[in-house]
Amino acid sequence: MLTLHSTIRVLGSIFTLTPAILSGLPAVNGAANNLTQIPVSSFSPNPTNVGFYLYVPSRLQAKPPILVNPHACHGSAHDAFTGTQLATLADTYGYIMIFPDSPNPADKCWDVSSAQTLTHNGGGDSQGIVSMVSYVLKTYNADPSRVFAMGTSSGAMMTNVLLGSYPDVFAAGSAWAGVAFGCFAGPGYDIWNAACATGQTIKSGAEWAAIVQAAYPGYRGFRPKMQVFHGSVDTTVYPQNLDEEIKEWTAVLGLPGTPVRILEDSPESKWTTYVYGEKFQATNATGITHDIQTNESVVLDCFDLKCWGTGCYSRPAYDFLVSI
Ligand SMILES: *[C@@H]1O[C@H](CO)[C@@H](O)[C@H](O)[C@H]1NC(C)=O
Ligand SMILES: *[C@@H]1O[C@H](CO)[C@@H](O)[C@H](O)[C@H]1NC(C)=O
Ligand SMILES: *[C@@H]1O[C@H](CO)[C@@H](O)[C@H](O)[C@H]1NC(C)=O
Repeated sequence: MLTLHSTIRVLGSIFTLTPAILSGLPAVNGAANNLTQIPVSSFSPNPTNVGFYLYVPSRLQAKPPILVNPHACHGSAHDAFTGTQLATLADTYGYIMIFPDSPNPADKCWDVSSAQTLTHNGGGDSQGIVSMVSYVLKTYNADPSRVFAMGTSSGAMMTNVLLGSYPDVFAAGSAWAGVAFGCFAGPGYDIWNAACATGQTIKSGAEWAAIVQAAYPGYRGFRPKMQVFHGSVDTTVYPQNLDEEIKEWTAVLGLPGTPVRILEDSPESKWTTYVYGEKFQATNATGITHDIQTNESVVLDCFDLKCWGTGCYSRPAYDFLVSI
């Protein structure tokens, strides 16, 4: 449903299917609790006034991990909440979910284009979302070494942005049908970058890595691991964007540009997963359009979110602790 809206938007259609109709549907995710809206006065900086919704399961890990899940264009925090089983799984695995809500009334896409959002502590939607992470770390004694981001379409673009602008915050990201960090760059926040979306923005790994490094000049710390997925017949965000994400993140992470392992029919039939190293893999979902369905189990496994207590996948927490 969410990605259908992106398609409708891109086609510039006058369809009357709106998020209002969607929000009238019952929650389909089976989560035990509902979202809580956190007043924008409770956290800062949030220069673009991003809405903050939180899912807190009744049974939490002692130091709960955090999973940030930005919605797709024409979606909402509530749509993202009901759109996957990730909140339901939080009831089992004891992590907290942040569902940010885009402040852009025009199309509810994320700001993945402005110089602000593409710069560490530079403002934009990305900074507001990171302030939500700080709020949850303090309020729930959450684990700063286990903060994750995942999303589809505009949410996947924001996942790339969060990992690029805030490599000191996130342990890993999972981006479904998105674009490389910086690919949507343009003058302002409300940009649909058609050149990028249609796969005409093509750069070398070194060029992409320079863009990511410029987001946080001088940063030499841990870089989050990343998994990306893309449908091979996506006509909204063209499949070339998978190649660009591969070049970008392998270069940033210092991994070989060719896969060290190829997994056929993985994680699903006809999908091919290219493993470049421990910290990056890319999945080409053959025959899948922009309407790619999240495989929640794959996301949780990548983030090791089924793990409770000690010995779970995590990042060195030091970088972020000194900055909050
Ligand atoms: C759940 O939370 C959402 C967002 O705050 C709200 O719109 C909705 O009415 C709530 N649903 C229930 C059943 O309380
Ligand atoms: C999700 O991925 C797992 C592998 O981790 C796979 O076994 C399962 O079939 C996938 N789910 C669907 C709905 O394809
Ligand atoms: C993905 O698969 C399609 C065909 O199934 C192929 O044309 C395309 O080159 C593949 N892309 C990558 C990045 O492997």
